[in-house]
Amino acid sequence: MAVDARERLVEKIQRGFVVETIDDMTEEYLHALIQTLTITGDTELLSVPALLTVYKQAPTLNRKITALAIMQDELGHAHIAYILLQQLGVDVEELLYHRAAHRWKNPYAFDFGLDNFVELGAFNALYDRAGYTLLSDVGKNTSYGPWRRALVKVDKEELFHLRNGESILREAVRDPERRKEVENAFRWMFIMGLEFFGVSDQLKSRTTQLDLKLKGKTNDQLRQEWLSKVVPFCESIGIQVPAHFDEASQQYVLDFPFPCKFDVERREWRLNEPDTWDNVIRRFKARGPENEAFVARIQKGYHEYERLRRSS
Ligand SMILES: [Fe+2]
Ligand SMILES: [Fe+2]
Repeated sequence: MAVDARERLVEKIQRGFVVETIDDMTEEYLHALIQTLTITGDTELLSVPALLTVYKQAPTLNRKITALAIMQDELGHAHIAYILLQQLGVDVEELLYHRAAHRWKNPYAFDFGLDNFVELGAFNALYDRAGYTLLSDVGKNTSYGPWRRALVKVDKEELFHLRNGESILREAVRDPERRKEVENAFRWMFIMGLEFFGVSDQLKSRTTQLDLKLKGKTNDQLRQEWLSKVVPFCESIGIQVPAHFDEASQQYVLDFPFPCKFDVERREWRLNEPDTWDNVIRRFKARGPENEAFVARIQKGYHEYERLRRSS
């Protein structure tokens, strides 16, 4: 019976059916949608503590205001995801303010503080580009109507974020000292960006998310799309990254084994040491150095207010 219901829904969705309410969903659809929206909301929200670590180092008032505007956008994007989750019956207060840090679903890259304002530029150029790539795909393909409509605004704002990052980096490479900062930023952040798209299609080609059209393209297709924008940008500012366009296959290829080992303490990729996706997922689950501090920052105000309320 459940299998029939699944097949019927998959078939309807593949023909273009737009899901609007819980009544349109199977249990599996609801579960996959909640999972996807949680990852999205957590990613949007947890981008902010990382950006906050360096926005005060902005070289001009304009750059600082822009960084603040971007953080404000991200809070708005998170709000959209959590409101949709609330409409699906999720206890969002519990999710936001009582969830242990290691259970948040933001990308591993967001568990790291930034060293300088150039890294904020790289964050926008690489990670917001990844967010833009992933969410544009959702916006074009998702079968969930309320999300598709909400993403029209998000899409435009993400484009502004990544352009801001590119503008910071273009300016920085003109100064020899800051060019070094750009090189250092890309050395650890480029591969972090590649990991945003998750395990390789060889391990996971067909997923529930694709069957139910919560997304339209596979992980490797999206990674390829990201590379097709990021690598030419890096070339345009004279920054080397370990990837190039391969004429024979008409694809971007990586010049190192991916995934590869990462030294968390030193924030360094070991480009000569291949790793497995199982190990990468283990690293993601162990979380990065600032995971607890960043989640605490998000939850702090709520708990302070609760303490005040109880004592009054
Ligand atoms: Fe965002
Ligand atoms: Fe963004």
